[in-house]
Amino acid sequence: MKRKPIPFSAPKIGLREIVAAGRILRSGWLTTGQENSLFEEEFAQKTGSPYALSVNSATSALHLILEALGVGLDDWVITTPYTFTASAEILRYLGAHPLFADVDGKTGNIDPSEIERILHENAHAPMPRSIKAILPVHLAGLPCDMDRIMDISRRYDIPVVEDCAHAFPVRYYSTTDRSSPYLGTIGAGGAFSFYANKTITTGEGGMVTVGDEALKERISLMRLHGIDRDVWNRYSSSAGHLSWQYDIKAPGYKYNLTNFQAAIGRVQLKKAERFKRDRTNQALLYNEAFHALDSIETPIVGKDHAWHIYIIKIKPEKLTSGRDEFIKALFDRGINCSVHYRPLHMMSYYRDTYGFMNDDFPRALDLYERTISLPLYPGLGIRGQKRVIRAVIEVSRMLRRTE
Ligand SMILES: Cc1ncc(COP(=O)(O)O)c(C=O)c1O
Repeated sequence: MKRKPIPFSAPKIGLREIVAAGRILRSGWLTTGQENSLFEEEFAQKTGSPYALSVNSATSALHLILEALGVGLDDWVITTPYTFTASAEILRYLGAHPLFADVDGKTGNIDPSEIERILHENAHAPMPRSIKAILPVHLAGLPCDMDRIMDISRRYDIPVVEDCAHAFPVRYYSTTDRSSPYLGTIGAGGAFSFYANKTITTGEGGMVTVGDEALKERISLMRLHGIDRDVWNRYSSSAGHLSWQYDIKAPGYKYNLTNFQAAIGRVQLKKAERFKRDRTNQALLYNEAFHALDSIETPIVGKDHAWHIYIIKIKPEKLTSGRDEFIKALFDRGINCSVHYRPLHMMSYYRDTYGFMNDDFPRALDLYERTISLPLYPGLGIRGQKRVIRAVIEVSRMLRRTE
């Protein structure tokens, strides 16, 4: 009998999430409500962020933070090409542009030296660009070099917005001041994703973390149409008969998270450390299993890591065929994989809009050509993981170049 294929990713939803969502669905209050306030308080407490604001995606979280920071028409934001389009598309919502900085060839995270080079060259350009923010992405859940990025941010007086879509819950172990804050609380703002495949999920969903009260106020206003009081406060306060009396302070967005999603999020939040332990154990087992294969590079473990995705790099010089054939051979063995990422500068929209060539960011290009993301998620289980391991070893032997 043919065995069922192993999916690339799968959410882990238990009875407690179902009960929590069911309780809210029966309560009659479906849209943003009390569960959101509790989810926000608990998320803020977990990360140590002064403020947390629930939203319907990390994309909207990023958009709101940059809007609140004043990024607008013809501004530029330094970010990585080695990411999902959300990290850059939100700039276009604001009429701003991405300034891509190449990545570190080992981690795939933005290279601080490239950020510095761009800022230095811009400062000495005859017509400097208006660079308004630096937007690092903690790829796969491995922290970027935040010590260097924050140092650059202070010297050039440009705020940092952390894309933490892959990176919850992860501490950053600073080498300069020995602190260990959670990712998302180091820059001016952090954006988290609760999309179906993320380390905790509400189906779709996200969270903003910010430390500054004025930013928090602007983001709360803009996440729901620019209305001066949120819908829960309008209807639940003793002045409920005045619920219709609201003002519109700005043309905001419709980015709120529902009450039942927040209820699911609260349960997932409690499980976050357990999920992370499972993911970490799987990553370490993969690393150990592939250690002896000379055609594969395994990912860096680091001091802390969310292991949202597990990315191996093939060494083409050791193989008879390339990355795509490797993935196809795994697929034929019932293992579904993915690639993170085809860099943004190679995507037609960014290429056509900004005139990029594939080798403009050589390290991102090199990574793209060599990376494979393997299945990794709490529900994979040891038997599933052993199947993946066996398949990877088999394929790497089958495609091995013999001198
Ligand atoms: C790096 C990165 N940033 C942002 C996002 C957007 O997250 P969401 O789907 O919650 O909008 C994603 C989604 O996968 C992502 O991978």
